[in-house]
Amino acid sequence: MTLTTMTDLHDLHDFIRRLPKAELHLHIEGSLEPEMMFELARRNGVALPYASVDAVRAAYDFTDLQSFLDLYYAGAAVLQTEQDFFDLTMAYVRRAMADNVRHAELFFDPQTHTVRGVPMATVFAGIAGALRQARADHGFSSRMILCFLRHLPEADAFATLDAALPLRTEYADLWIGVGLDSGEVGNPPEKFAGVFARARELGFHVVAHAGEEGPPAYVHGALDVLKVERIDHGVRSEEDPALMQRLAQSRMPLTVCPLSNLKLRVVKDLRDHNLARLLRAGLCVTVNSDDPAYFGGYMNANFVATADALALSSKEVVDLARNSFLAAFVTEDERRRWLDELQAFSA
Ligand code: ADE
Ligand code: ZN
Repeated sequence: MTLTTMTDLHDLHDFIRRLPKAELHLHIEGSLEPEMMFELARRNGVALPYASVDAVRAAYDFTDLQSFLDLYYAGAAVLQTEQDFFDLTMAYVRRAMADNVRHAELFFDPQTHTVRGVPMATVFAGIAGALRQARADHGFSSRMILCFLRHLPEADAFATLDAALPLRTEYADLWIGVGLDSGEVGNPPEKFAGVFARARELGFHVVAHAGEEGPPAYVHGALDVLKVERIDHGVRSEEDPALMQRLAQSRMPLTVCPLSNLKLRVVKDLRDHNLARLLRAGLCVTVNSDDPAYFGGYMNANFVATADALALSSKEVVDLARNSFLAAFVTEDERRRWLDELQAFSA
């Protein structure tokens, strides 16, 4: 590498770090760092199957989505009290703010907690308490998206929605949408047609994981049956040219998570990732961290690694950040403010 290109790279990394951006695909349970896992296990008297923080990190050698989910659900067992959810969320917000994330939309999986006897109200209160404090203290903007676990029956998703609805008024400033996550293959969007119809009638925004490990047909299903407003991941859409055209023409946002795709072996090497091709084909692509504590990096780490691996230009990096604000579930005033900030930054 020549000195000039090294300087250029350094400049681009610095540019990425300072770039205002939004994160739209972040599972708050996936931001549980091993250090906090140990701390909460101690606080709550939970036994962990690991001897040390290093042993936890060493176990994060995933072969596919399910091999990750097994550890992710086990790790979440240390989350028990409102304070636990507050601490987890505040730790994420600090990392996000350090990466110049202006706005974050947090996925949370209530079923992972209610099945262990943690009340729905505890989960909401802890997460929302931290998000409200971050807004009051730092102007950090956020929303919450309740995700249904797709490996469980649709009836369980209905029960989860019903259990959460009494809290809707209290958390109207934050809880604005529902999503669909967990093991994709064998659990197509159509399985959740009824509960998504109900969520839409109630006025919630709707999103779904599709085309992460599942085929393009699942992306079609999420669009046609669930009528989602964003596709989470969606990288396998590239296998279907008609779907690519549809996504480009509609500017349907894709919340792509490059380091997640690498760690879960959706791609073998980041240089094989199709993010740049999707962007250059006119799709509304965004960069996100998914489960940063498990996949080795928060927002800026995802941006930097992707920009390096795919030789993204500074204009493309700005396009990715602009897409994140365009795709966010916020008021037009908020969107305008961040787009103006981005414009001033990149001028
Ligand atoms: N839950 C947390 N992370 C996930 C992912 N990447 N895909 C599906 N479900 C998830
Ligand atoms: Zn995800």
